[in-house]
Amino acid sequence: MTQFYKKCDRYLRFGEATLLKKTGIYPYFHQITGEQNPIVQMDGNKVIMLGSNNYLGMTSHPKVKEAAQKAIEEYGVGTTGSRLLNGTMEIHLELERRLANFFGTEDCLVFSTGMQANLGAISAMISEKDEYILSDQQNHASIIDGIKLARMDSDNKKIYKHNDMEDLEKCLKEVPKGKGLIITDGVFSMEGDIVKLDVLADLAEDNGAGIYVDDAHAVGVIGPHGRGTAAHFDLVDRVGITMGTFSKSFATIGGYIAGSKAVTNWLKHKARSFIFSASPPPANCATVMAVLDIIEKDESYRKNVLSVAGKVRDGLRDIGFNVGDSSTAIVPLMVGERRKTMKFFKELYDHKPLGIFSNPVVHPATAKGEELIRSSYIATMTEEIVGDALQIFEEVGRKMKII
Ligand SMILES: Cc1ncc(COP(=O)(O)O)c(C=O)c1O
Repeated sequence: MTQFYKKCDRYLRFGEATLLKKTGIYPYFHQITGEQNPIVQMDGNKVIMLGSNNYLGMTSHPKVKEAAQKAIEEYGVGTTGSRLLNGTMEIHLELERRLANFFGTEDCLVFSTGMQANLGAISAMISEKDEYILSDQQNHASIIDGIKLARMDSDNKKIYKHNDMEDLEKCLKEVPKGKGLIITDGVFSMEGDIVKLDVLADLAEDNGAGIYVDDAHAVGVIGPHGRGTAAHFDLVDRVGITMGTFSKSFATIGGYIAGSKAVTNWLKHKARSFIFSASPPPANCATVMAVLDIIEKDESYRKNVLSVAGKVRDGLRDIGFNVGDSSTAIVPLMVGERRKTMKFFKELYDHKPLGIFSNPVVHPATAKGEELIRSSYIATMTEEIVGDALQIFEEVGRKMKII
């Protein structure tokens, strides 16, 4: 057997996934039946869905579903090509205009996923030997991989401590003026805290650095009408590049970069994940525009998800959980140990007659010793669901001596 198949075979027999399956605490690939709602059927059991990014509950909104169906009727199911070639349809351009208008930027460029947006945009923005990246330690994997693809010298990559503006300032001192790009999540995906963008923007200005914000978990949730982190801080004009995804509040799949026409034009011609991949299907574009139609007029979804998450966060704190610095739709429950986190997930999941599906977050998604259960909330969750979730967290947390 060749080395390549041998290692797969070894992993199948002795890898961590197999060992976790044998001990009954493997937490991945559970099967959902039916729609992604606050309560779902998973592996035949009824569970509260606290592991989705469906913040506004739009995956099953009747108007959104209708818009996707109409787009299939009008444009067909797929594009079969890159935007550069046969994959630009009028609906892509319409969506880009709508998004630019929503975010208050000059332009917007749609990618097929958020991962591809980060991979393509970051690697394309870095094109000269004397350019630097400053990246938050807890940035999403797609940012880390985008930086890897940029193939920079290690001296040109500065990873600063999480949301630590003093450390960022220190790193900026090692970067020549006008040569750095600061990259940060707007809302951090694991712990739900918000970047200190006001301080960061001043530091960037002093150094002449650019700002790149990944707003995957911010859009729909923070800022007026869910316009995201820059709007939340009223700093839209000072953030040069905003990346986002359609896979969370927008309820479908796809990604985008919002910024100036010069930036989108550069990416259109330089970002390999944009050029060498087929464009998103028309139904995805229509889905996003239907969500925009709703949230541009109606703030109740955004307010509801923040209120639901806030109630759970306060309740968990009162019970004795450490919930970190979150203030958004994501609420972490700190555990601090890999196995214990997996076990906690499993106990919550198996709770009867109603369980909780959550996301166990372990190394490398978080630092060793900082393992946690990530819970996230949906605008359409009722008071009853909030009460049930708190009760289950308390019962299992006590049983496992986490509180
Ligand atoms: C912060 C962040 N950026 C980027 C992505 C990638 O988005 P997508 O699911 O559209 O590939 C995610 C998704 O998990 C994310 O959480």
